[in-house]
Amino acid sequence: MTLPPHGSNPKYVYQATKLPTPQQLIDFSVNVNPFGSPPILREKWHEWFPLLEDYPDPHASILKREISIKEGIGEEYLLIGNGGAEIIALVAQLYQGKRILIIQPAFSEYEQACLAQKCIVEHHVLEEGIWKLKMEELLPKVKHYDAIFLCTPNNPTGVVYDRQSIIELVEEGYRSQCSIIIDEAFYDFTVDSETYISLVKQYPNLIVLRSLTKMFAIAGLRLGIGVAQPQVIQQLAALKPHWSVNAIAIKAGLECISQDSYIRHTKQLIHVERNRLKDFYKENGFCMSESAVNFYLVKDPTITEAAPLYEYLLKKGLVPRHTMNFPGLDGRWLRFAIRKQNENNQLMEALSEWKNQN
Ligand SMILES: Cc1ncc(COP(=O)(O)O)c(C=O)c1O
Repeated sequence: MTLPPHGSNPKYVYQATKLPTPQQLIDFSVNVNPFGSPPILREKWHEWFPLLEDYPDPHASILKREISIKEGIGEEYLLIGNGGAEIIALVAQLYQGKRILIIQPAFSEYEQACLAQKCIVEHHVLEEGIWKLKMEELLPKVKHYDAIFLCTPNNPTGVVYDRQSIIELVEEGYRSQCSIIIDEAFYDFTVDSETYISLVKQYPNLIVLRSLTKMFAIAGLRLGIGVAQPQVIQQLAALKPHWSVNAIAIKAGLECISQDSYIRHTKQLIHVERNRLKDFYKENGFCMSESAVNFYLVKDPTITEAAPLYEYLLKKGLVPRHTMNFPGLDGRWLRFAIRKQNENNQLMEALSEWKNQN
């Protein structure tokens, strides 16, 4: 079976695998909020329509001000981008041609963006199934790199790295002139993990990334945030295309960041579903990653690679994310988004059947 190189669009998944597309599909491959975007965005949509005619504020100043208040950090520490992906691309540009280490498995954009900037990219692959930072292995490497990318909560595992280890990494980076880029795109989904944004004031070598597209299901609108010391923000801003953040995204962002009860409700439902799924996988002999967010990895330990299970689920119209292009996973695991209760039930039914047949 030929697999699509990335895998987030079900249409391409069925095209690449040459499997017939079932009438009904549930997309478990995309890891945005399963409850969709906050209803206020639909209510305001018509009001925002006239904004199409004018150029947006190139600095997204109003949104920056509100985020600054919410996160308790000065506006000069913030850059608003066209999705977290734009901030990643800008950071990669900042380290053009430099030596980069990526803590793997991780979001594939870090490598792609750095390779596009002719960086020398190397990987620090964490132990499969555990995916914890082992500082005695990681710290000695720091001095050999100009920047290190890591993602916590991590995509694709959903694992939150130990705070003390990350602080040690940032400090070692500070001593060795190595920047640490922490991607917190999925931070909003965690119940009790802490952000690294406030550490930016103390460490000039720290850059934190956030995305608004995940929690607020606005991947089509594009909004991301970069947080770093003002001189780094100025360098990134100088590389950013003018007007890359559109006027409607700015308005939508303002609404999104005040949706406290929507965030609470989402976190709560995901928490309940994650526990239910956890019990199911344990009872049915699957391995599941220790996820703290809205997606997780699964492996059937009775098979060496996940392709037959992937194909089985695709035929049933249940679309997982394959892991062929994640170093350290190499197709042995499948990633699933946590969706609504009835959709997770359908997945569990299909997986029970799979176990009964195999
Ligand atoms: C870990 C991680 N960081 C950043 C991004 C980029 O998000 P955005 O949609 O804001 O560009 C993604 C998107 O999948 C992601 O998984």
